[in-house]
Amino acid sequence: MARTAFLSSALFAATTLAQVPGPYTPEVHPALTSYKCTTSGGCKPANSSIVLDSAYRWLHNVDGYTNCVTNGFNSEFCPDVETCAKTCSLEGVDYPSYGIRTSGDALTLSIYKTDPATNVTTLSSPRVYLLEDDETYEAFKLLNKEFSFDVDVSKVPCGINGALYFSEMNEKGDRNELNKAGAKYGTGYCDAQCPSQNFIKGVANLNGTYGACCNEMDIWEANRAATAYTPHPCDAIEVRACSGAECGNGDNRYSGVCDKDGCDINPYRNGNKAYYGYGANYTVDTTKPFTVVTQFLTTDGTGNGTLKEIRRLYVQNGKVIQNAKVNVPGLDPVDSMTDAYCVAQKKVFGGTDDTACQGGLKTMGEAIGRGMVLAFAIWDDAGSYMGWLDQDPFPADADSSQPGVGRGPCPTTGGRPADLIKQYPDAAVVFSNIRSGDIGSTYSNSTMVRRSVRRY
Ligand SMILES: *[C@@H]1O[C@H](CO)[C@@H](O)[C@H](O)[C@H]1NC(C)=O
Ligand SMILES: *[C@@H]1O[C@H](CO)[C@@H](O)[C@H](O)[C@H]1NC(C)=O
Ligand SMILES: *[C@@H]1O[C@H](CO)[C@@H](O)[C@H](O)[C@H]1NC(C)=O
Ligand SMILES: *[C@@H]1O[C@H](CO)[C@@H](O)[C@H](O)[C@H]1NC(C)=O
Ligand SMILES: *[C@@H]1O[C@H](CO)[C@@H](O)[C@H](O)[C@H]1NC(C)=O
Ligand SMILES: *[C@@H]1O[C@H](CO)[C@@H](O)[C@H](O)[C@H]1NC(C)=O
Repeated sequence: MARTAFLSSALFAATTLAQVPGPYTPEVHPALTSYKCTTSGGCKPANSSIVLDSAYRWLHNVDGYTNCVTNGFNSEFCPDVETCAKTCSLEGVDYPSYGIRTSGDALTLSIYKTDPATNVTTLSSPRVYLLEDDETYEAFKLLNKEFSFDVDVSKVPCGINGALYFSEMNEKGDRNELNKAGAKYGTGYCDAQCPSQNFIKGVANLNGTYGACCNEMDIWEANRAATAYTPHPCDAIEVRACSGAECGNGDNRYSGVCDKDGCDINPYRNGNKAYYGYGANYTVDTTKPFTVVTQFLTTDGTGNGTLKEIRRLYVQNGKVIQNAKVNVPGLDPVDSMTDAYCVAQKKVFGGTDDTACQGGLKTMGEAIGRGMVLAFAIWDDAGSYMGWLDQDPFPADADSSQPGVGRGPCPTTGGRPADLIKQYPDAAVVFSNIRSGDIGSTYSNSTMVRRSVRRY
């Protein structure tokens, strides 16, 4: 990985041991202003920044230049987990070379990167987290609160997902005796798909036995053609290292510790094909930026209550736009997510109701109450071509006339990564104006009018 800068910074001495800050490239986090809002005081800026996930970094022996992981761990550096952690160091990175740029309160993530020396374009697919200080992820606690951001998906085509979501990572990135790098180097990732990671809580995953499971709240999985928000509750507090059936792979999908399918609200899937899309004829027009508001409402209307509803609003051209009402025979015409919606949707759409098994919104809310880390990513999907988000029918051989089968207007022949990189080398998502606070405090009817003059 990114080895370009090490010669110029080779004067940095290797002063520490363990899965550690590397000696060659200093880690400098791009600043990204975010905002904290209250009903009485309005929105105030915070000096946050972003950090690239550790898996994207050059991981090498601390005294040299040899990768610790190529096809599996290097057995010389990593005969056991302790030696591995002491021997392997993570390098700082040059953010623009990964397709990551910030300016003020805006973050641009490009899915591809072009090597200036060769002009060869390759997949970068960056994933970054919001830091509240250089060594600590911000832990968002959003019960009885709302979370808002502006997004520009006009350059995110079918097959690509510009995602913003919360994972219940440890706020220090599981920094410990084995992991001296911590959140400063983007360690500690986990999500509800229980991905295999090289290190989990600083322990090297030497034979790939373990996955990193944790509660995940997908606020925004979208491109310019389709969008969904999806809680994925898990039987886990922060990261849970799963093995075997617990990871929910293959036939064990519905017996793992996480609800991998989740419960989604996708307007197209819910029978509103003219609500969200690329053109002025859609209610939410993705040719232009808009604001996405998500509210986490509790049973007792306090931050100690049980999560009962996840409500979505949009703001575009100064107008608040209510979420689309479900328009599917057999389902109530609701515009918001509750357990009742999730149970009914699984029955009518024919999915396995793992959401209820994992405790549904109550479990999701417990994680949201403990605090979750904000992740931003842009990615393609070699496995199912993003069909679960944007294609009709999905799966490609299903009957499009059945409820829940169509996910978005994209063709089932699309979404192939090899085609996307040729057709859309400039694909990128822009997230900006990230706000959280009291219900009703993060947006107004005139938000986008003011901001469109300033930025877009
Ligand atoms: C953000 O940083 C600026 C410049 O260092 C400082 O003046 C300001 O007080 C900081 N704001 C907060 C909320 O910490
Ligand atoms: C890369 O592309 C730019 C712009 O098209 C061009 O100016 C430059 O010479 C190219 N570099 C190489 C190494 O091909
Ligand atoms: C896999 O590695 C772990 C240590 O990370 C070890 O405890 C376990 O026994 C190994 N399993 C196999 C099948 O080698
Ligand atoms: C909106 O307009 C575009 C471009 O003319 C067209 O392709 C699309 O089908 C229209 N969508 C709806 C829902 O009318
Ligand atoms: C929960 O209740 C306690 C005790 O009343 C209070 O101090 C605390 O601020 C509440 N927490 C939230 C998130 O509202
Ligand atoms: C937004 O503004 C319009 C017209 O100014 C008003 O009718 C509407 O109630 C407002 N909506 C909200 C949610 O404030």
